Amino acid sequence: MNLPRHIAIIMDGNGRWAEQRRLPRIFGHQQGVESVRRVVRECLSLGVSHLTLYAFSSENWGRPAEEVAALMELLAQFLSQELDTLMREEIRLRVIGDIALLPPAVRRVLDQTIARSSGNGRLVLNLALSYGARDEILRAVRSLAGQALEGRLSLDEIDERRFSASLDTAGLPDPDLLIRTSGEKRVSNFLLWQLAYAEFFFSEVLWPDFSAEELRRAIDDFGTRQRRFGLTSRQGPAET
Ligand code: FPP
Repeated sequence: MNLPRHIAIIMDGNGRWAEQRRLPRIFGHQQGVESVRRVVRECLSLGVSHLTLYAFSSENWGRPAEEVAALMELLAQFLSQELDTLMREEIRLRVIGDIALLPPAVRRVLDQTIARSSGNGRLVLNLALSYGARDEILRAVRSLAGQALEGRLSLDEIDERRFSASLDTAGLPDPDLLIRTSGEKRVSNFLLWQLAYAEFFFSEVLWPDFSAEELRRAIDDFGTRQRRFGLTSRQGPAET
């Protein structure tokens, strides 16, 4: 099987899942956490080594205050409940995004979990929190421009490798497969630089209903794609 090394997921449809059941939206997010657990388990069993989840976008701060608070609470709960599993299953937690904006209690548990799990190497679970790709790119540009202005970096030295290394995803391979659930077909300011050569899979399933089977369907579909990275099929190697 041609397995993606890095899967990125836009987990969409929690609100609609709840509304269809006449439940408050937060019930959809709670159910969404179960999908997160299922997908992490399936990645471990398949041997996927990197998983990035879009858990909270920089635009999500504009949602009603009680929904934002409930999402932050869910996140803190998830992290403290899952620490044992992360250690047992050798999962390393990482985070991308402007985490300075997160409430102090969430930052504390995030920092602790990242530090504790930093030696784990079976799966990198990368959470996008308070994340927006344009913001990430601008922060990288500012940092590189600052170094150039101080004379520590020449303009020629600003190449793809150095730019990638200035993004929040420094050190992670680019995603091979992007999955978006709930039938929406947009990138929504997610990993705009890193998705340059990713394959996209759009699932109709709402995130709280996203199953291990649906993940395998996306991975099987990925296996049928011929990845050319801008070359011709003759030049192949179709995939790596
Ligand atoms: C999109 O659904 C989902 C979110 C904005 C939040 C995703 C968060 C979780 C699954 C739970 C917390 C995450 C972790 C990693 C523990 P939506 O609310 O935009 O749905 P809608 O488009 O149907 O309204």
